[in-house]
Amino acid sequence: MSTPNHYRLPTEGQPPEALLEQMSNFKSEDVNWQEGRTWSLVYHLGPEHDALLKAASNLYFSESYINPFAFKSLQRMERELIQMAAGLLNGDDGVCGTVTSGGTESIFLAVYTYRERARKAGKLRSGAEIVLPVTAHPAFEKAAHLLGLKTVKTPVDEDGRADVEAMRKRLTKRTLMLVASAPSYPHGLLDPLPEIAALAQNHGLPLHVDACIGGFMLPWVERLRPGRLPAWDFRLPGVTSMSADTHKFAYGAKGSSILLYRSIDYLRHQFYVSTDWPGGIYASATFQGSRSGGPIAAAWAAMHALGEAGYLRIGEGLLSGSERLQSAIRNIPGLQIIGQPCMNILAFRSSDKQTDTFVIADQLEAKGWVMDRQQRPDCIHLTVMQQHLEQLDTFINDLQEAVAFAQKHPGAKSQGNAALYGVMARLPMRGMVARSVRQLYEQLYSSKPSGEDSQEGTASPEPAWWMGPLNRLLSRWPFSR
Ligand SMILES: Cc1ncc(COP(=O)(O)O)c(C=O)c1O
Repeated sequence: MSTPNHYRLPTEGQPPEALLEQMSNFKSEDVNWQEGRTWSLVYHLGPEHDALLKAASNLYFSESYINPFAFKSLQRMERELIQMAAGLLNGDDGVCGTVTSGGTESIFLAVYTYRERARKAGKLRSGAEIVLPVTAHPAFEKAAHLLGLKTVKTPVDEDGRADVEAMRKRLTKRTLMLVASAPSYPHGLLDPLPEIAALAQNHGLPLHVDACIGGFMLPWVERLRPGRLPAWDFRLPGVTSMSADTHKFAYGAKGSSILLYRSIDYLRHQFYVSTDWPGGIYASATFQGSRSGGPIAAAWAAMHALGEAGYLRIGEGLLSGSERLQSAIRNIPGLQIIGQPCMNILAFRSSDKQTDTFVIADQLEAKGWVMDRQQRPDCIHLTVMQQHLEQLDTFINDLQEAVAFAQKHPGAKSQGNAALYGVMARLPMRGMVARSVRQLYEQLYSSKPSGEDSQEGTASPEPAWWMGPLNRLLSRWPFSR
């Protein structure tokens, strides 16, 4: 077989040391999260905890959890993870579930389960709909897309939380399920769960609470800041399922999440069984077939290594860090925090029309921070993690300077990386945005070589050339903010 233009399999094997060195060098172009300059992506406690996660994963390096009956030790750890999570989320003895590969798989499976349950009961209507607030994670939209369902997105109230009345108005005979976030990723806001759970219960509809990011943090917020949160979990009878990611604030290794249902009456619809394959009877509990045992082992190790006392100690650090950051932001005239953040996630924006939020982001990037720009409204996302705690004073100082610059230069337009985000955020023609992002992905994953000699390495695709100029144009457009 000849594939002359492709990056090629080496003819001879190479020594492990050289390969490891080469791979370490690949990392030089990655974001530098270790110094606490990236405000999302990595949930990290330090080298000692990492060493435990790696050792636990290594212990299950070879096993495949495709067959839970072959690896009883993994089955045991999965069961114990599910029970620990059910306890934290106030589930009773009937609560059951599975460990999955991440939040997206948990969400996909919850949607699949409700669709299967309705189908088997003869109640699945064509054009069945998921009713969810606009701030719910895109994994629900992706699941709906893959499963032939529709999403009905409802607005949020002025505090950025789901508008329950708007959700109620969109319920029809086609409604399959409701969704709420605990909390939403963009702004860290807890949807009004007691009201949404009552709505679901009154209409006999399932409700999935997406606690992917909050499931292993809100239990500690309740203990450390009593009275801050209303009930948000299985205490509410209308909640039928929840997702909580062990690879986020449980500090497991990447690739694990927990999906819980109120009872086996829901979970049983998630299982897939094929009986006529020549290879024998095939069954799987989650989406994956062959499944690494490593993430299960690492999550189990993390939860036992930290225990309640460890999570409370870490949680207190993150909460007080986030509170310090919030009060610093509130003290900067011209900045506004979106809603009332319920944990260590927040978003802020410029509250004065002359100052562009993304120019503030540009200024912070120029000082070495990696900023998450969000849209509708334009704002900047911050998840406060362990690696940020020592950096908070520097960040606050840099933020004050960035805001002062943006206020002194009211005509300044966002540039560079911000231009791409700016155009995405402001472009009214969403089809064009989707096409451009698809093009980027096509370039990224197409088999075309990137250079003369593809053995030299592969380059990342660049955003479409027109995005910069178009962003500058749109940022002057009166309706664009
Ligand atoms: C609220 C929420 N739901 C779902 C997800 C998706 O999780 P994952 O990226 O693990 O698939 C995330 C990820 O940040 C999230 O914050």
